[in-house]
Amino acid sequence: MPELSAKSSMMQASPIRKLAPHARAAEASGTKVIYLNIGQPDMPTPPEMIAELHGLPLTRLAYAPSEGLPEAREAWSAFFSSWDIDFAPDQILVTAGASEAITFILAIVAGGGGEVLVFEPCYTNYLSFAAQADVALVPITLRVEDGYHFGSIDRLRACITPKTKAILLCNPSNPTGTVYTAEELEAVARVAVEHDLFVICDEVYREFVFDGGEIRSFTQFGDLAQRIVVVDSVSKRFNACGVRIGCMATHNREILDVALRFCQARLSVPTAEQLMVVPMLEHGRAYSEKLCGEYERRRDAVFKGLAAINGVTPNLSEGSFYIMTRLPIDSCEEFAVFLLRDFALDGETVCLAPGEGFYVTDGLGVDEVRIAFMYDADTLSRAMRILDAAVAAYPGKLATTTI
Ligand SMILES: Cc1ncc(COP(=O)(O)O)c(C=O)c1O
Repeated sequence: MPELSAKSSMMQASPIRKLAPHARAAEASGTKVIYLNIGQPDMPTPPEMIAELHGLPLTRLAYAPSEGLPEAREAWSAFFSSWDIDFAPDQILVTAGASEAITFILAIVAGGGGEVLVFEPCYTNYLSFAAQADVALVPITLRVEDGYHFGSIDRLRACITPKTKAILLCNPSNPTGTVYTAEELEAVARVAVEHDLFVICDEVYREFVFDGGEIRSFTQFGDLAQRIVVVDSVSKRFNACGVRIGCMATHNREILDVALRFCQARLSVPTAEQLMVVPMLEHGRAYSEKLCGEYERRRDAVFKGLAAINGVTPNLSEGSFYIMTRLPIDSCEEFAVFLLRDFALDGETVCLAPGEGFYVTDGLGVDEVRIAFMYDADTLSRAMRILDAAVAAYPGKLATTTI
């Protein structure tokens, strides 16, 4: 048989989903599994969106225009202006989720061997998007001790090489829950200008900022407009991951022209799904604000539960719907398997996302896990008690911790 390409080996299996066989086995043996590993919202998709789908006067599902249906581009533009972000409909391309937008834009700005700076731990699929686009991700490693903030602009400057084309920033962050400060955003903006870089802003969790913190879009740097590409999505803010609608928005006409060619090559994004999200994009701000309050209550439950575990000093997640923390455990990947294979408390266990998969640098994150807030606060509190008991029972627990 001919060998598969070198690129094939660069596509990683999802580190979040690789525990699934162990979780299925646990369930088959009668243990209830609380899934803390996947950021798939548990709350219903807004009924308005479902009603819109049912009411669509469709007689023929033809290809939509490659750039997106006019109604959908206008709705995205209205959505952005409800957050004081200015993108005209013709500066927006509708994509199959933020995932497609990120893959396209990485290829456009750095494909064929360019480098893109990224904060690690990062959204794990960035690694696969970059592999598809033939882009090298250059990580700026954030530390749990710093609440996963990078602090100094010098951290960024130190990673720039002649091949650096862009900075990819997820704010608020999956997986860490970090909301970058005004000074940090300023630092990113300054480095982008100093070194002539694009900034790819993944703002799919934009409105999920806790404790009344300011919601800052990178688009506030109006003088950088030509460098900024925003990627966005309905997946998380409208509990609609399966709809697969996102977008890419920029004021840079050259990028839009090239991106349109990428869009043309995949023909179009599903027609009915583009239309069903229109009312929520136009009027959904109150809905996502309510969601944010719910995620904050869940964050509090997880934080309190983690803080009660001996040897754990959790960060207070500032946004998104994740927390990343260090556990007093030698290998969180083995610990996650232990939880599913060998442990239960009152018939229940938890499924964690081991930290390693969120790092670009091999060997980092072995004692970290990401927890997603996809259950109500009571269930999450119970999940933290299960975790506490499992840490105490685990043979690979570290005797002393350096936390
Ligand atoms: C940071 C981040 N960016 C992008 C995506 C992909 O979103 P979509 O469902 O719109 O493709 C996700 C999904 O989890 C995410 O967490």
